[in-house]
Amino acid sequence: MGPIADLFPANLPSGIVHLKSILAKDTQDELVRATKQVAKIAEFSHARTKSGGIYSAEMTNCGEFGWWSDAKGYRYTDADPRSGQPWPKMPKSFSDTLTRVLAGTDRSDFGPDACLINHYPDGAKMGLHQDKDEADFSQPIVTLSLGASADFLIGGFDRSDKSIKLLVESGDALIMGGESRLRFHGIRKIYPGTSPLSDLDGRLSLTFRKAT
Ligand code: FE2
Repeated sequence: MGPIADLFPANLPSGIVHLKSILAKDTQDELVRATKQVAKIAEFSHARTKSGGIYSAEMTNCGEFGWWSDAKGYRYTDADPRSGQPWPKMPKSFSDTLTRVLAGTDRSDFGPDACLINHYPDGAKMGLHQDKDEADFSQPIVTLSLGASADFLIGGFDRSDKSIKLLVESGDALIMGGESRLRFHGIRKIYPGTSPLSDLDGRLSLTFRKAT
């Protein structure tokens, strides 16, 4: 069964902006196609967590830098540690879409140099974590959601702080910046079978970052 729409969405903390249904269906399809092109060069795989576990989401990257995690720890690299090859270039459809999404927001000058792409098959999740491997926390992280709906968790600044859940659906954008930039966040649940995109099972998140 699909998620029940949030009729009364939670008041989001300052610095978090949820742009609901901002991507047209053909744009979403194009982003899925472009992701598949990226994954031909840098395939999706399950990275290792710091504690030696395996992420249930599969990851890859595009852009000048990519985020990776293995026995050497969490970091941005200018080459895919698995192949030694540079990360694939950020597709034009990624950067053009991001520019359009951010036009009219106070983040229209955001110029990411990295995009971490997570694929969440049904049943995958992502534990609460902070994104803090970037050089400048005044820069936001912007996520585009494609495919299956998910419960996104927004926590506080301590892992044990209470979190709220936000339903994110295909075509949504989420900006985490300002005083919320370092909030713990995660994915609690993927709603199986809810992808409206014929070429995508599960959920893709395109998370744009300024690594350097
Ligand atoms: Fe994150």
